[in-house]
Amino acid sequence: MRLSILAITNALQSQNRKKLSPLLFSLSRSFSQLSSQSQRPSFGIAFDIDGVVLLGNTPIGGSNKALKRLYQDSGDLRIPYIFLTNGGGFRESKRATELSKLLGVNILPCQVVQGHSPFKQLFNRFENEFIVAVGKGEPAAVMAEYGFKNVLSIDEYASYFDGIDPLAQYKKWNIKHAASENSTFKEMAPTICSQRVQAAFIVSDSVDWSRDIQVLCDILRTGGLPGRETGHQPHLYFANDDLEYQATFPSERLGMGAFRIALESIFNRIHPNPLEYTSFGKPNPLVFQNAELVLKQLVLSLCPNPRVVNHATSESHRFRTLYMIGDNPSVDIKGAHQAGRPWFSILTRTGVFKGKENSSEFPADLVVDTVEEAVEYILRKESI
Ligand code: G3P
Ligand code: MG
Repeated sequence: MRLSILAITNALQSQNRKKLSPLLFSLSRSFSQLSSQSQRPSFGIAFDIDGVVLLGNTPIGGSNKALKRLYQDSGDLRIPYIFLTNGGGFRESKRATELSKLLGVNILPCQVVQGHSPFKQLFNRFENEFIVAVGKGEPAAVMAEYGFKNVLSIDEYASYFDGIDPLAQYKKWNIKHAASENSTFKEMAPTICSQRVQAAFIVSDSVDWSRDIQVLCDILRTGGLPGRETGHQPHLYFANDDLEYQATFPSERLGMGAFRIALESIFNRIHPNPLEYTSFGKPNPLVFQNAELVLKQLVLSLCPNPRVVNHATSESHRFRTLYMIGDNPSVDIKGAHQAGRPWFSILTRTGVFKGKENSSEFPADLVVDTVEEAVEYILRKESI
């Protein structure tokens, strides 16, 4: 059973404003001379990452060249753009550094909006609660950066329970070994095992589906106390619901949505009440609303007057067009359409979509071969 995320995201706009404002002054210094109020760009761009800009860690579709066109020769940003990805697993600051290296331009943390970025809006609710973070990369570090004070990765959490994964001995990696080398491991185990998990956050793609589904079922059906009696299901949040995405393998790979289906199917067979959860990520229109807000803040930071920058509000700038460049019709294109104006969708052929014409199910406003072509089109249309 899917829950409404409206209540969670109501605070999104005001919180984002507060969180972005310290960044604005530094951004304003790095932006170009284009930046007087009358010359504020009336458009912005949101780039999907997997299947548009990168395949794995390899730039594709002329993405390096395309992104360079959004900067001055001096390296200062001249066109407001962000990355709007359903992927994640690393803190936005770390991802920005990695992307900067891979793509050869200076990308700021506030330009990276990941599937799990909306989780930060839940920190008031779970700030001091015991929570478990699932997925590749550094899911617990991501949640800690958002303000959650009592978080463990599922790798570490599972390592405190003897025999929770009966297949562990057959696996070539051994998380328990790493955690049990920690001197406080033995002292910590009783506390961890008797502390009720209040929520589980699927931050990024699960690395070990069998172990994660097992441990999540344990947490969810016992009210957060694996091995105990049935209890009320703790909260469960997914960073996205992508069934498939494009990585380096020629055909699409199973994503977090596939993991969710597997978990839900199993949970619903072993528990009397259906699984309750909330999914974030594209195509949810609220993700696009948030992206618009982040882009507005970027545009406002173009203003050279620090007085205006520091008191900027999202209402003080309107976009004529926001371009979403994506490879997945049912995620990127559907999301942009649902969000409505000023979003304009551009579908590339470098990822999930490989068709000759447009997508029949979720047709884009424009179909191009590559991201480089998409940027060329945008700059021409905007007379830049
Ligand atoms: O795990 C990554 C994937 O689900 C999608 O990433 O960049 O195509 O939104 P992206
Ligand atoms: Mg993609």
